Amino acid sequence: MLPTRHGSRSKEGMDIDIASRWASASWPPLFFLLLLAGRSGRGCPAACDCASQPQAVICASRLLEAVPGGIPPDTELLDLSRNRLWGLQRGMLSRLEPLLELDLSHNQLSTLEPGAFQGLRNLLTLRLRGNRLRIVAPGVFSGLPSLTLLDLSLNQIVLFLDGAFGELGSLQQLEVGDNHLVFVAPGAFVGLAKLSTLTLERCNLSTVPGPALARLSGLTGLRLRELDIGRLPPGALRGLGQLRELEIHQWPSLRALEPGSLTGLNLSHLAITHCNLSSVPFQALGHLSFLRVLDLSQNPISSIPARKLSFLVRLQELHLSGAHLASIAAHAFHGLAAFCLLDVANNALQTLEEAAFPSPSNLVTLRLAGNPLICDCRLLWLLRLRHRLDFGKSPPACASPLPVRGKNLRDFSDILPPGHFTCRAALIQRSGPRRVSAEEGQQAVFSCSGDGDPAPTISWQGPQGIWLGRTGRVRVLEDGTLEIRSVQLRDRGAYVCVLSNVAGNDSLSTWLEVIQTESPNGTLSDTNATTLGTPGPFFLDSRGLVVVLVVGFLPFLTSVTLCFGLIALWSKSKGRVKHHTTFDFVPPRASGERGAGGNRVTAKLF
Ligand SMILES: *[C@@H]1O[C@H](CO)[C@@H](O)[C@H](O)[C@H]1NC(C)=O
Ligand SMILES: *[C@@H]1O[C@H](CO)[C@@H](O)[C@H](O)[C@H]1NC(C)=O
Ligand SMILES: *[C@@H]1O[C@H](CO)[C@@H](O)[C@H](O)[C@H]1NC(C)=O
Ligand SMILES: *[C@@H]1O[C@H](CO)[C@@H](O)[C@H](O)[C@H]1NC(C)=O
Ligand SMILES: *[C@@H]1O[C@H](CO)[C@@H](O)[C@H](O)[C@H]1NC(C)=O
Ligand SMILES: *[C@@H]1O[C@H](CO)[C@@H](O)[C@H](O)[C@H]1NC(C)=O
Repeated sequence: MLPTRHGSRSKEGMDIDIASRWASASWPPLFFLLLLAGRSGRGCPAACDCASQPQAVICASRLLEAVPGGIPPDTELLDLSRNRLWGLQRGMLSRLEPLLELDLSHNQLSTLEPGAFQGLRNLLTLRLRGNRLRIVAPGVFSGLPSLTLLDLSLNQIVLFLDGAFGELGSLQQLEVGDNHLVFVAPGAFVGLAKLSTLTLERCNLSTVPGPALARLSGLTGLRLRELDIGRLPPGALRGLGQLRELEIHQWPSLRALEPGSLTGLNLSHLAITHCNLSSVPFQALGHLSFLRVLDLSQNPISSIPARKLSFLVRLQELHLSGAHLASIAAHAFHGLAAFCLLDVANNALQTLEEAAFPSPSNLVTLRLAGNPLICDCRLLWLLRLRHRLDFGKSPPACASPLPVRGKNLRDFSDILPPGHFTCRAALIQRSGPRRVSAEEGQQAVFSCSGDGDPAPTISWQGPQGIWLGRTGRVRVLEDGTLEIRSVQLRDRGAYVCVLSNVAGNDSLSTWLEVIQTESPNGTLSDTNATTLGTPGPFFLDSRGLVVVLVVGFLPFLTSVTLCFGLIALWSKSKGRVKHHTTFDFVPPRASGERGAGGNRVTAKLF
């Protein structure tokens, strides 16, 4: 787009050389004379292009080593990018008051003197990307009251000191990515009252600079990308009450989000992508009732459990593509009245049940491509909605059963051939005997298996109708076998094996008889089960304790009453009398603490 003017370089090249030499000799007055001399009416620096846009001076990629002379004073856009500028002195550009945009990106600037941009009162955009800046001294950006965008990315800045941006009261966007930033002083961002978005990316920060960020009370968007930070401590982003969009992208060592890490925030968009989260951080999200979009894509999250998201009452979109999702529970999105977009493309889902959604008809977008879907009766609902739903770039395809492998959901006709999208109810094929006897203390094992399509789940119900779990003395093993270790008398009863899948269930009950082992009274074989209830020789049950206390308390009550009676009688017979009565009172103690004296009470009268 920019015209190259190699032909006209001979004379102006000298001009530039002189200018840069003078600049390097830091002799600003002469330099300015040159700047002024170079202009005549609406002139144009010889190396630049002033014709392609009105009020613009384009001097990009001209091997310039200093700001060229002759820039018209009414210039609004000055593009000096991709040159060899190495320094900017104070007041160098002050003549260009109408300037709105200054592009100094991709030069070799390593120092900016305080006041370098003095006088650019109307400047809105300042680009310093791709230079060699190491230090941003306080005062460098003074005299830029209108600046709204400052791009300092791709430099070598190591730290931001207090007050580094002190006078940029209008700044709305600050780009500081791709620096060597290791430290941001707590007061570095003071004065940036209007800053609305901040991107910190590819820096050497090892913690989130919370105290510095807390000064950005007007911040609405914060992006923290490609940082080697493993933890977002509780309260790290406190003070950002206006923040609505938070993006945490590519923190490879972030394994979990602690419960308080988002406290103080009221977000509408939250993205934690390309991190190492292994589960949805429900607890940390708990208070975000205004959240509308949640993006947890590219994390090793394997499941979405039932009803855990219901506190996100305004959630509309959940993005979880490229995760390790193997299951989305029924009722996973219940309570989410506004839910309309689910992106779970490129996961390990074999199915997605209609029951996951509070109302599947409210769903507008469902990205499900790239999952090994089993096209059976569980996906019929999807087939029904396939013309209405927005599937994104590609519609989901069946991975099995074999006859429909690779076929897009969209490609099925309305009349399905027999055997398509069907299920077969669970059916018990093999089980042990219907009646089992076991001796007390022995182990009992019940087996049960069968088939169905999809593969059924096996569960067991105990004698009291309780569903048995995977742990404990009585437990269901991984293969569906029921195991009772150390059988007890109370285990007697019926055990029901239930095979179920989406198409139906089948059940079978087995009776367990427990044979009491002959053992002399007092030395029971199953010691574990019975010792707890056996009274020890010095054990007092609660009733016994009450009796002891009452018996101990009665003499005390009697003696106290007697004493008061005596005193009353004495004082009546003697008229007025000074009471020098002292009770040495030993309060009753819980039994056992001081041997036999524990529940005895004495009262002495002197
Ligand atoms: C920042 O990290 C990069 C890459 O890890 C390294 O080369 C550079 O020296 C670091 N800078 C500082 C100031 O630590
Ligand atoms: C991600 O987490 C897993 C364990 O949860 C760990 O083994 C792995 O090293 C982590 N990856 C990174 C890059 O920290
Ligand atoms: C949270 O943000 C929403 C807008 O997203 C706003 O309506 C609501 O008042 C805010 N709540 C608080 C407590 O600031
Ligand atoms: C088994 O099926 C019956 C009716 O078909 C149903 O009432 C019952 O809840 C099912 N049980 C399980 C565990 O799925
Ligand atoms: C154990 O004692 C109870 C009475 O306390 C008695 O009825 C029972 O027969 C005894 N059993 C044995 C095996 O001695
Ligand atoms: C008693 O409990 C211990 C462990 O608490 C266990 O190893 C042992 O097998 C139990 N004995 C019986 C008879 O259940």
